[in-house]
Amino acid sequence: MPANSIGRAIAFELSFLLLPIAGGVLLATLGVKLVWILALMLAPALARNLYYLTRLALLIRRQHRLAPPFPRGLWGEVYRSIARYQQRGRKSRKRQIRFTRRFREAANAVPDALVILDKHHRVEWANPAAAKLMNLRWSEDDGRLFTDILTNPGLDALIDAGDYTRPLEVAPEHNRAIILSLRITPFGERKRQRLVVGRDITKIYHLNMIRRDFVANASHELRTPLTVISGFLESLQDAPGTPVAHRRPLTLMRNQTDRMCSIIEDLLTLSRLEMHDSPEEQESVDIPDEIHLIVQEAQALSNGRHRIRARVDEDLLLIGSEPELRSAFSNLVFNAVKHTPEGSHIEITWHDAESGPRFTVEDNGPGIAPEHLPRLTERFYRVDRARSRESGGTGLGLAIVKHVLNRHEARLTISSELGHGSIFSCTFPQHSALVRREVDISATG
Ligand SMILES: Nc1ncnc2c1ncn2[C@@H]1O[C@H](COP(=O)(O)OP(=O)(O)OP(=O)(O)O)[C@@H](O)[C@H]1O
Ligand SMILES: [Mg+2]
Repeated sequence: MPANSIGRAIAFELSFLLLPIAGGVLLATLGVKLVWILALMLAPALARNLYYLTRLALLIRRQHRLAPPFPRGLWGEVYRSIARYQQRGRKSRKRQIRFTRRFREAANAVPDALVILDKHHRVEWANPAAAKLMNLRWSEDDGRLFTDILTNPGLDALIDAGDYTRPLEVAPEHNRAIILSLRITPFGERKRQRLVVGRDITKIYHLNMIRRDFVANASHELRTPLTVISGFLESLQDAPGTPVAHRRPLTLMRNQTDRMCSIIEDLLTLSRLEMHDSPEEQESVDIPDEIHLIVQEAQALSNGRHRIRARVDEDLLLIGSEPELRSAFSNLVFNAVKHTPEGSHIEITWHDAESGPRFTVEDNGPGIAPEHLPRLTERFYRVDRARSRESGGTGLGLAIVKHVLNRHEARLTISSELGHGSIFSCTFPQHSALVRREVDISATG
């Protein structure tokens, strides 16, 4: 409100008072009683204020729009200001309606199912795609429990656990032919509501199955002929009748066949790991014992060319699959031996860190350039193909490690700097840790 318009309004109010004052003075000179004079002087101002106040109260109460003509003076300023507020409110409401409409149109156009759940996991809203993908119709299903509509044992557990970091793949009951990938995100006030996004991944799922089955079948079919070839090569190598000139090519052939066998074994291991999300056999694994064995094997592999040291919490065990954990840990330790030069130091640690039990392999070898780090766990990915092949590496080791850790809800972190070595850490969830004494007591009791 500009200052000069306020000034004008005050001047008007004063001029409005001047007339009654002049009349009062006149009446005083005529000898009229003071009470009457005062009453007559104040009456017009009181009546005017009462009128505009009542009018304003009624307009606001009936939610009417304040429109010109406005009264003069300060009342005019009050009316005008309220009219301006009303206009601003109307504009922002319109903006909000437009925004909501656009959001709803966008949500309706999304091919993924979107569902909003309240804090008790009851349906608050869903887009049309939810009808096709989840058999959930809004607004008919408004207020129904989400887990009553999309029934799946994994879903109940996922919603109750509150750990939404991984998507859940489900085949909905109303249409078993589709595979949905469900992602749940807490949102809203104090993050108590849930946004469920269901994506149709049927095609990707089937392609993945075809790839997995193909790799598993092809590897399986190749294993037997290769074993036969390798066996015959060995016999030929050792046979006294084999000409000396043939010995070297036979040795090379045997080495390459062995390499192929180890690739096939790794591919089969990966296929096996992919078949199920979590290890079939969960047991208490004596990790300290495993590490001591792995260190011995690593020393044999290194043949005195590396300094290997292990710092192990002897009482810290883990619940998981023994062969899988052994394969993952030995992969990391053997990598440190295979991919670092002579004289390198390798340090293996197993301890209970703040975030959970942790296995670490640290070396002071050549390190890995940052651009390779995100791709290291891909199948067949090697930083230096030529050098890795020389050391017999196929690039499947870290892919196996990642799979094994996923199945144990563990995390692999790799930090490395060129020229300063590498650190590979596996951090397990706290709930999978076991203390040796507890195991002994339960075993004897
Ligand atoms: N400690 C390390 N120091 C330097 N480079 C490493 C280290 N560990 C792994 N790498 C690099 O990461 C690549 C991938 O490792 P991965 O274990 O997957 O395969 P690999 O060791 O070559 O073969 P495989 O383990 O299948 O026999 C390796 O080829 C190597 O280049
Ligand atoms: Mg390896």
